[in-house]
Amino acid sequence: MTDHFDVIIRNASIVDGTGANRFEGDVAIKGDRIAHVGGLKDATAEMVIDASGLVVAPGFIDAHTHDDRLLLSDPDMSPKVSQGVTTIIGGNCGISLAPMPRPIPNPVTPPLNLLDEDGRWYRFATFADYVAELEAHPAATNCAMLVGHSTLRVATMDDLAQPASPEQIAAMRAMVVEALGAGAIGVSTGLAYAPAIGSPTEEVIEICQPLRDRGGLYCTHMRDEGDMVVESLNETFRIGRDVGVPVVISHHKVVGAKNFGRSAETLKLIECQMATQEICLDCYPYAASSTILAPHLAANATRVTVTWSQSLPEFAGWDLTEIVKKLGGTQEDVIQRLLPAGAVYYRMDEGDVERILAFDQTMIGSDGLPHDEKPHPRLWGTFPRVLGHYSRRRGLFSLETAIHKMTGLTARNFGLADRGVVREGAFADLAIINPETVDEVATYDRPIAPSRGIEMVIVNGEIVWKDGKPSGRRPGRVLRRDAPDSQPPR
Ligand code: ZN
Ligand code: CU
Repeated sequence: MTDHFDVIIRNASIVDGTGANRFEGDVAIKGDRIAHVGGLKDATAEMVIDASGLVVAPGFIDAHTHDDRLLLSDPDMSPKVSQGVTTIIGGNCGISLAPMPRPIPNPVTPPLNLLDEDGRWYRFATFADYVAELEAHPAATNCAMLVGHSTLRVATMDDLAQPASPEQIAAMRAMVVEALGAGAIGVSTGLAYAPAIGSPTEEVIEICQPLRDRGGLYCTHMRDEGDMVVESLNETFRIGRDVGVPVVISHHKVVGAKNFGRSAETLKLIECQMATQEICLDCYPYAASSTILAPHLAANATRVTVTWSQSLPEFAGWDLTEIVKKLGGTQEDVIQRLLPAGAVYYRMDEGDVERILAFDQTMIGSDGLPHDEKPHPRLWGTFPRVLGHYSRRRGLFSLETAIHKMTGLTARNFGLADRGVVREGAFADLAIINPETVDEVATYDRPIAPSRGIEMVIVNGEIVWKDGKPSGRRPGRVLRRDAPDSQPPR
């Protein structure tokens, strides 16, 4: 073959994202697509990359993020591309930056403040305005975005503790229609959080009705991930069935010491239910969670570390018990003084984390919080930790399976056509990694650190990460969902 390409990656070990075993070969890129996979002895290219000893995989898809604002405020997306991530799913846990047709409350209603503490970024009246901004100022990664139910409630309701009235439901449903028309791939809820906890199941079902005809997804941070986790799973299944759409169980976990081990029960329930309806789930590879600081969350954790505090910023990175010692008073008083604030909560069992990660259908999602002063290490470490710690060292699954959980499986579940796979004709989203050294560097103590062994990252045919730093290129696109009927056979 005497073809000429833009890029040829030679002598690679190719892990194609389908879960199949790796094979040796070359990968050629023309424009934004993979033009050839296999032997390419006589071909030439503008750029030849020697990948001897390295693995070429599809770029990773972060199934669960809060990068809605990061895409605009830090478009190099370093926490993500440094891990090999080329696409993020945003707008999770009920919080999306858009739409916000009226001024956001000041201070910003938690947990909407996780995306933006001071409210300046909640300035997109419609989802279309937000998508237009993402497309006018692309980021280094692709994104596919959800519209958040809590955002809709804050945009519509004055008393968030109440169920929405029929008029408010109609208004929120109209915003869902607008968002889906503008490119949103579904609706997310955060039923555990104050702005949505007063929302009955029926409200969610009513608001989500437009998903069915428009091929959208329902993603949920469930009402309860502790004592009532089974009830919450059943609520999630019911919403999926009643609306008639696939559901995504976000960051599946079981929290609180007395629930340790119950992932055996939840996974069995999920697996049974998968026979009758479409269910997906994601997981982050850590036994500590992270979100806003709140007394009821601190109450069932064995240790709490503050990740940011607007009132007392000097305590970012401190253990709550240390702050209590320093300031005096009860833990409850000290929490009130720190608010608004964020925290890491140690409240899961490592055995549950491993069982959920190893479950066949579990996708990898970071749930990273990019604006925290001292973030949970999942923001920078999730994907290399799965590859290094859980696959290579713990042997929980093969490298091929690990990569499938972050690529092919995720692209299929979210309906991202021609992504998440290395094959001729697919988009050239690629991660070139060293399978022997790939690892997390971020820790709870030093959480901001690029990973090891991520040699090069390519998005839509352009290099975005190389030699341990961002290239400055921003080829990212806003991806739409291809509902299953319209998806080409693969
Ligand atoms: Zn969540
Ligand atoms: Cu989340």
